[in-house]
Amino acid sequence: MITRRSLLAGAGALAAAPFMPGRAFASTTHETLEAALAKVQIAPEGYPQTEIWSYGGTVPGTEIRARQGERLRRRLVNSLSEPTSLHWHGIRIDNAMDGVPGVTQEAVPPGGTFLYDFALPDAGTYWYHSHNQSYEQVARGLQGALIVEEAEAPDVDRDEVLVLDDFRLDPETGQIAGFANMHDFSHGGRVGNITVTNGIFNKTLDVRQNERLRLRLINTANARIFELQLEGLEGWVVALDGMPLEQPQPITETFLLAPAQRADLIVDVTAEEGGEAHLVRLEREDGFSHVLFNVKGRAAETRRPTPMPLPPNPDMAVTGLEDALRSDLRMEGGAMRGFASAQMNGREVGFREAAQSMKFWAMNGMVDMPEVPLFVAERGQTVRVAMRNDTMFPHAMHLHGHHFREVLPGGGLGPMRDTLLMFADERREIAFVAHNPGDWVFHCHMLTHAASGMMTRIKVLA
Ligand code: C2O
Ligand code: CU
Repeated sequence: MITRRSLLAGAGALAAAPFMPGRAFASTTHETLEAALAKVQIAPEGYPQTEIWSYGGTVPGTEIRARQGERLRRRLVNSLSEPTSLHWHGIRIDNAMDGVPGVTQEAVPPGGTFLYDFALPDAGTYWYHSHNQSYEQVARGLQGALIVEEAEAPDVDRDEVLVLDDFRLDPETGQIAGFANMHDFSHGGRVGNITVTNGIFNKTLDVRQNERLRLRLINTANARIFELQLEGLEGWVVALDGMPLEQPQPITETFLLAPAQRADLIVDVTAEEGGEAHLVRLEREDGFSHVLFNVKGRAAETRRPTPMPLPPNPDMAVTGLEDALRSDLRMEGGAMRGFASAQMNGREVGFREAAQSMKFWAMNGMVDMPEVPLFVAERGQTVRVAMRNDTMFPHAMHLHGHHFREVLPGGGLGPMRDTLLMFADERREIAFVAHNPGDWVFHCHMLTHAASGMMTRIKVLA
């Protein structure tokens, strides 16, 4: 049974908010991305508007669309009262454009600007977000979809970007609340009390029976892992984290989308004309309609055949696993387990002392991002990183500038990804070719975790 229920305390009205996010095509006239305050309706109608920090006045921010092989050029204008930066999540980008304060650039001060100008080698579903004080700035709305189109688009009737997110709103004031919360930092992260799609509570779309949709799902939430299921829709996963799968994978059960991950689906509307289909969100045994599809009319008499795989992106092969450079990454900390000791500000401290500085996690015994990289790879070298989650919580590990594949226990390789979800006590190994020179951060995308110990760096020589 699907129920549509608000998680916002006391919410009664369930109507979708009368607000549509901006959608613009990349063009030479649209080269500024201003980070500024705005007000939008996130909570259901009847609740106050919410002040957000946004790119272009909406959350998610202005959708950026470009073509594979093009350059993307955007001047960030910081009209906020705090420094900020732009990170282009999942793009195999020129290091200087990666947007990480203290590593690839200085944060852009209030009133300042920074020109981001880079090539787009890969087609796929990506996103952009602030990389300064991310746990707060992304949660306040500094995030948007970045879609890089294939030279030849797959044969679908529609292409829909669905940005899945949550907000923590004060039910009285409707304002984004609760940042410096010890519990969030030391547990699973900062989860919201209202879930949204494209900034809208209870998003609804009109579709037709047998219509074929490409759904580009992006999880921009700080910490929420979406567990999803299709109802009245049938189809395939065709890409993960932007990168095409060799073969479309039929969706037969529930699937997970961790923070920062993307999934491109090609689905057919199989629900009857006049009926409903859903992207279902599962939560504690309950199913909620996260996106409602109203089936109005019919696109075709029958379903179409299985789609072709998307064209592969260039130079993605992960070879040379036997002679790879090997590295280990051990995650420790968090509530219930903590750590015996770790380095903070150059000395060994216990968990209690670290906690007083809002540091709750350690990677390889360090709570600060180390000056010395986890490893230094030659350009083109294959690297394997064996990761071990010795905490009680899941972590979504994201590597900048590269995509990797998981080395599966049987010896095979998992799909190409830029963010890997690891559950408590898991050990997982990833492998990638260090093709992109520069200093790259490697961190948990549960953003309070990244802010409290789960951030390290790697280096690839030029
Ligand atoms: Cu999407 Cu370092 O982040
Ligand atoms: Cu984490």
